[in-house]
Amino acid sequence: MAKSIGILTAGGDSPGLNAAIRAIGKTALSSYGMEVIGFLDGFRGLAENRTIRLDEAALSGILTVGGTLLGTSRDKPHRMLVGGKVLDMTDTIVDSYHKNHLDVLVCLGGGGTHKNAYRLMQKGLNIVTLPKTIDNDIAITDTTLGFDTALAIATEAIDRLHSTAHSHHRIVIVGIMGHNTGWLALGAGIAGGANVILIPEMPYDIDVIADAIHQRSRHGKNFSIVAVAEGAMSKEEAAMVQKVVELKEKAETKKEKKEAKAQLKELKEQHNSDILPLAKKLEELTGLESRVTILGHLQRGGIPSPVDRLLASRLGTACTSLIHDENYGIMAAIQGQHIKPVRLEEVVGKRKVIPLDHSWIKTATQLEISLGS
Ligand code: F6P
Repeated sequence: MAKSIGILTAGGDSPGLNAAIRAIGKTALSSYGMEVIGFLDGFRGLAENRTIRLDEAALSGILTVGGTLLGTSRDKPHRMLVGGKVLDMTDTIVDSYHKNHLDVLVCLGGGGTHKNAYRLMQKGLNIVTLPKTIDNDIAITDTTLGFDTALAIATEAIDRLHSTAHSHHRIVIVGIMGHNTGWLALGAGIAGGANVILIPEMPYDIDVIADAIHQRSRHGKNFSIVAVAEGAMSKEEAAMVQKVVELKEKAETKKEKKEAKAQLKELKEQHNSDILPLAKKLEELTGLESRVTILGHLQRGGIPSPVDRLLASRLGTACTSLIHDENYGIMAAIQGQHIKPVRLEEVVGKRKVIPLDHSWIKTATQLEISLGS
């Protein structure tokens, strides 16, 4: 009997999701005669059984469209806000899967989505995932869907900020997304010719940054572009976070764990507004005027790049072949020129950070870009 596929997109949207949905759907319909439905708004739509049929008409004309036609959310199956209460909706979701006579659920998402998909796999559902996030931080895959487009957007922003920084002899600080990793900031910083790049993997020392800017001034370059990953931290901040992380790990009681979690949340909230004080401090230390531009969700919007469309099409078609072969409990990963199935348990709970010996770090250093440490 022909298989029935359910698809959902969860977590932050990213360019290329529609191209991936299209590729899964088109191959499923035309090559294998499978049925395809989509659940709206991530795991919430699965819990509430809100579906759309992904037939030829629904899949047509979406290759270049940004966002996701299915909608998305950050809802977790086991902790979902329903009628003002946080409920475990896992059993409802399992029911919904069976009510729709699904053979497999395809989840397109990042780290959180993989954890949630894995939990559903442990409840007996057949799962296949595709790695999607502009952050490029999913383990065991070389790259993720949406990263290339976001990289291009952030690079173009740096290009545009260059001329105004130069004209006004200013420091321009560009805030770049990336959650707790620096892939986007480092990639766009190198590609856009930033003078300083700050990433979470290398806690920074503000005096080192100021020195780098001074040195540029001594060479007659009295402007600087500082690309800052949203998760980048000073050495002092990183030490504070590390202390609380250790407290959380050592916590023996539920209360201690909760307190450590609350402290981490507070530190994170304080950190989110750190970029303005950083600009102020650099002004004081260098005597140069500074301005801040936070790119934010601009990096996730609009049409996917050709590289992301190609990646989405390859991942989507490979996904349908894996389903045809009943290869479940896996993520379709990009490894070199190939797409390979990797067991979900190998991916879940691991974050791909930039290794300190990564070639991009070496490149930045050789180009005399200050990494602030
Ligand atoms: O994971 C993608 C991402 O864009 C991160 O870079 C960023 O930290 C986060 O999502 C922002 O989330 P939201 O869209 O919920 O504000």
